[in-house]
Amino acid sequence: MRLNDAKTLEELAALGVELRPGIALSTLTSLGIGGTTDLLRVTRHDAIPAILDLLDRHQIRHKFLGGGSNLLVGDGELPWVVLQLSQPDPDVVLDGNLAHVDAAADLGRAVTFCAKHDLGGLEGLIGVPGTVGGALRMNAGAYGTQIGSYVTEVKVYRAARRTIEILRDDQISFEYRHTSFAPDDMMLAVTLNLPSKPYSEIIQGIRICNEKRRASQPMGQKSAGCIFKNPPGASAGRLIDELGLKGLSVGDARVSDRHANFFVNAGRASARDMLALIADVRDRVQKAYGVRLENEVVVWST
Ligand code: EPU
Repeated sequence: MRLNDAKTLEELAALGVELRPGIALSTLTSLGIGGTTDLLRVTRHDAIPAILDLLDRHQIRHKFLGGGSNLLVGDGELPWVVLQLSQPDPDVVLDGNLAHVDAAADLGRAVTFCAKHDLGGLEGLIGVPGTVGGALRMNAGAYGTQIGSYVTEVKVYRAARRTIEILRDDQISFEYRHTSFAPDDMMLAVTLNLPSKPYSEIIQGIRICNEKRRASQPMGQKSAGCIFKNPPGASAGRLIDELGLKGLSVGDARVSDRHANFFVNAGRASARDMLALIADVRDRVQKAYGVRLENEVVVWST
């Protein structure tokens, strides 16, 4: 979708929005898949309600983009614009054991920054790509760590009420790869309460997690992490692997040879290819085990 009404563009600029016209979302997603649209960089949290009122008034559909690392975006010209928060500097501010982190902060860098200040707990999340906001929305986790366990407060734009609110941890539920946030809520910032730990100990924990990840997951290939959530008591990767589906492909979309719950873009895969592969694997698993795998990857279809 292209915004070309001069007055709308002027109003957006007055609200601190920076327009990046005609961006291929394949360049902003870790899968390297996604069509083209205008990207609106939001520089001021307080302007978000007014920006969304404006978009609604002009019937401009929109989506919120975080780090694009757990996302499969449709092909071609997209029927909505994309909003993305710009990254403030600094994006992490420490106050004792509390880390106030902007949603646009890179998760890995935030974990490392806290570690350097002897704040631990997040070691397992070090290799998880994406932003802190994206991790928060889905309660990202790995190696026994889930981000939700450390949250004390979240600043969020609640789309249904058109307000920016501060929610305490007891007002949010964090479950396995799921939170009580509405799909159109926009994460803005979070406060984490992190245990004190010496840097050397945290680094040791980070090294161990990195080694485990390197041994079992495809690194340096275009993927969205795990495609499916694990069904209760089982590993989706193991179920897919047991059916001999590693290497199964539709076009350039391919089940990783290393970890069967990672689907990689081995060249120029389209969203159509990837969706067909996801549907095929889901069907085969359902037929073989009677288990219907639920997507972990978020799909923005057109
Ligand atoms: N396994 C196989 N074949 C495979 C993959 C896994 O047999 O192709 C077996 C492993 O050998 C192991 C078991 O399945 O015995 C579990 O595998 P793994 O330790 O890799 O864990 P997982 O359940 O497949 C989950 C998360 C990962 C996270 C790891 C480590 C989900 C959907 N996946 O994977 O998170 O990094 O544990 O904690 O919860 C993600 O969410 O995107 C993600 C990568």
